[in-house]
Amino acid sequence: MIDDRNRIDAGPLDFFRGRRVFVTGHTGFKGAWLCTILAQAGAEVRGYALAPESEPNLYTLARVDRRVDSVFGDVRDLDRLSRNLTAFRPEVVLHLAAQPIVRTSYEDPVGTYATNVMGTVNLLEAVRRCADVRSVVNVTTDKVYRNLERREGYAETDVLDGHDPYSNSKSCSELVTASYRRSFFAPAAGAPAVSTARAGNVIGGGDFARDRILPDCVRAAAAGEAVRLRNPDSVRPYQHVLDPVFAYLDLAARQAGDPSLADSYNIGPDDEGCVSTGTLATLFCESWGAPARWEIVPSDGPHEAGFLRLDCTKARRVLGFRPTWSVGEAVARTVEWSKTYLSHGDVEACMESQIGAFTADCAEGAT
Ligand SMILES: NC(=O)c1ccc[n+]([C@@H]2O[C@H](COP(=O)([O-])OP(=O)(O)OC[C@H]3O[C@@H](n4cnc5c(N)ncnc54)[C@H](O)[C@@H]3O)[C@@H](O)[C@H]2O)c1
Repeated sequence: MIDDRNRIDAGPLDFFRGRRVFVTGHTGFKGAWLCTILAQAGAEVRGYALAPESEPNLYTLARVDRRVDSVFGDVRDLDRLSRNLTAFRPEVVLHLAAQPIVRTSYEDPVGTYATNVMGTVNLLEAVRRCADVRSVVNVTTDKVYRNLERREGYAETDVLDGHDPYSNSKSCSELVTASYRRSFFAPAAGAPAVSTARAGNVIGGGDFARDRILPDCVRAAAAGEAVRLRNPDSVRPYQHVLDPVFAYLDLAARQAGDPSLADSYNIGPDDEGCVSTGTLATLFCESWGAPARWEIVPSDGPHEAGFLRLDCTKARRVLGFRPTWSVGEAVARTVEWSKTYLSHGDVEACMESQIGAFTADCAEGAT
């Protein structure tokens, strides 16, 4: 457990001080950042996820196990998940556990659907069995929409029909959540508020996943090689991981007080954060310094959307959500963390300082 000297000035996170929060996927990239913030905010956290499968991983590097009550379990196992959730009696549940890689979903569609769809069903079933839960946020993705390769951003009312098995499984997770909300969590005294958050591509320190642009950039630069881009013109909404993670927490806190907010929300950057892969790689090379560089290689992979932008008007209007860090800042923070890691520096201290800087910038933006 974290001691008082490491607590952040919680500000908008005040809600979480002393509250029990159940997080699935705490051993993953986003989960590790989320749990670090929650522990610093003074929450009591139980994490439920598979053990980290490969080295290095942020869960181990950030010593998340010291900050949370960590349970290694599978979301496909309803009984185990339910037992662990109900015994902990959380007020807030944040569901991040998923198989999140598009390419892996082509290799293992059955496993991807089992985890991402039945995992959601199981999580919501477990919530039904626990009277203490007031607020649930299911983390999905910007890829839940039918991709029409159009320039305008997708809004929450657009058709849910992700193309590949990963994206499609997340569309299904959205539908499952909407059905549970209508069927079992309709606004009534004591019913939890259940929302989904559809976030764009995130970047940040400690992501070691394959087939993600910034981890590929860091690996190439560290090896002194050119970054190899398959689709430099693909446009995606990019954000630093702290932007959506703070948005999930904000949403969870707000709907606990006002269950009428329970809904689906796009969480993404402004238009300037929707950049091509080539632009992102250029920002990375500038931030990393010489001899970082990138080159185009022929695309050998399965279908990936060429153009994807989110319309985040609703989250802005209803929740007051605003991105805090620009894509340039997000890249610079990722480079800072990666260089700290590669030089065997203190990555925990780097994360705590970045969370502090983000919180300060967030507060400044709010004034
Ligand atoms: N990283 C991104 O750019 C991005 C963008 C949009 C949405 N998301 C979503 O955010 C969430 C977290 O993504 P991430 O980038 O941290 O991924 P990650 O791969 O780093 O973490 C995934 C987590 O899910 C857990 N998990 C996987 N299968 C499980 C199972 N069967 N049972 C229990 N736990 C299981 C893993 O152990 C890990 O803790 C996912 O739901 C993902 O779809 C990520």
